[in-house]
Amino acid sequence: MLEKRTLALETVGKVGEIVTVFGWVHARRNMGKLVFFDLRDASGRLQIVGVPQELETDESRVALDSLRSEFVVEVTGIVQARGAKQINPEQATGTVELLAKSVKVLNESKTPPFEIDSEENRANEELRLKYRYLDLRHDRMVRNIKLRDQVVTFFRNYMHAHGFTEIETPILMKGTPEGSREYIVPSRLHAGKFFVLPQSPQQFKQLLMVAGFEKYFQIARCFRDEDQRGDRQPEFTQFDFEMSFVEAEDIFQYTEAMMIELIKTVTPEKKITQIPFPRMTYAEAMEKYGNDKPDIRADKNDPNELGFAWVLDFPMFETDEEGNLAAKHHPFCAVHPDDLHLLESEPLKVRANAYDLVMNGYELSSGSIRIHNRAEQQKIFDILKISAEQQELKFGHMLEAFEYGAPPHGGFAPGIDRIVMLLAGEPNIREVIAFPKTGDARDPMMGAPSDVDQKTLDEAHIQIKK
Ligand code: AMO
Repeated sequence: MLEKRTLALETVGKVGEIVTVFGWVHARRNMGKLVFFDLRDASGRLQIVGVPQELETDESRVALDSLRSEFVVEVTGIVQARGAKQINPEQATGTVELLAKSVKVLNESKTPPFEIDSEENRANEELRLKYRYLDLRHDRMVRNIKLRDQVVTFFRNYMHAHGFTEIETPILMKGTPEGSREYIVPSRLHAGKFFVLPQSPQQFKQLLMVAGFEKYFQIARCFRDEDQRGDRQPEFTQFDFEMSFVEAEDIFQYTEAMMIELIKTVTPEKKITQIPFPRMTYAEAMEKYGNDKPDIRADKNDPNELGFAWVLDFPMFETDEEGNLAAKHHPFCAVHPDDLHLLESEPLKVRANAYDLVMNGYELSSGSIRIHNRAEQQKIFDILKISAEQQELKFGHMLEAFEYGAPPHGGFAPGIDRIVMLLAGEPNIREVIAFPKTGDARDPMMGAPSDVDQKTLDEAHIQIKK
């Protein structure tokens, strides 16, 4: 049936032809006996003119009369050029319209709980997320999701053109210490044991360097059970990469050229405040801007300005809420060579060979040159007061791998959600994720998280504490 389908956008080149289009009734206007409506499909919109006496059957006349917003329809008609005054330069199909000869309703729609395409009148977020499949019909959401696809496609192509291999790493794993609480998954086959979901592919990407891939990347889903903010979701996507035989400078140059190319390719209307991206140390950023993600834009009101900056030499350690020494980024970062002598005496003064890329006041990406030597890695764990036994239990596989010819390596992990949010000019990352969680980490559409039945709990060896 669909073989004869013409897309809305394709009608522009088919004036005088009889075509069949399929899609949704977008906006319907009754003008006396005439019915005008926009038919919306994935390619765009097309104005349909419904005149009862032009329709070939009574069924079509009944169908035309019954149309409401969001009904799914099949319309056959003649593509006509619009008169000069009727041309709509805002619409890709604004030079044509379809004079309907037959109208068929393929499916009806209830009145949506909010206006699909009202920019002024957007429903509250809870309702939008409950009916996300309707919210995603909004032009702005379509643009955001397509921009995201362009960004991811750009990165994939760029990496492949530069000799990187995309490799998937496990979602069920043992934890990686990146400072956030982890989501846990009970094991059915191993009673009382748990997998955790990755906060990032950090350990696996380092192990891929030990394996010898040298240039790895992944569009990687990451999970963190942390308090939500506009730029944080419990699950999010990193453009994660790692390279062997590199220094930090190689990562800076590679990433900077790639980001400039990304902007040129997907959002050419944007301009970058300063190229090369300015660089400052963490200490300088804190002193000059009072934070480690400075907004360096010249005009913060210009929606097309992108202020990239590098922040280098992050501290290796910080004190956590309980006053204990903790890794500021993660414990796999290499220590700044000039600070090795301070490791034991003044660890809080030790800098890591760790860096961030920031944009418009957001942290876009973090990375570092890593430790690739067992003794050095153990030393960091010792300073973090992780006992030899715990080191073995938690990170034995990393320590062991470093004894089998681990190359020097380093990497980076830009957050896809944050990049797309900033390029789309959206105020939070939920607007650029097809099915995000609410601010309190729920999915109102599916009703997740939810109860599971007793059998499932029993199989997972879980007893709920009342
Ligand atoms: P980090 O924890 O800094 O580094 O994360 C890297 C980037 O991921 C994005 N990001 C998030 N985006 C949305 N929601 C979140 N909850 C969230 N958390 C992080 C940010 C951030 O800059 N393994 C290291 C990287 C490395 O060292 O190579 C890591 O995960 O854009």
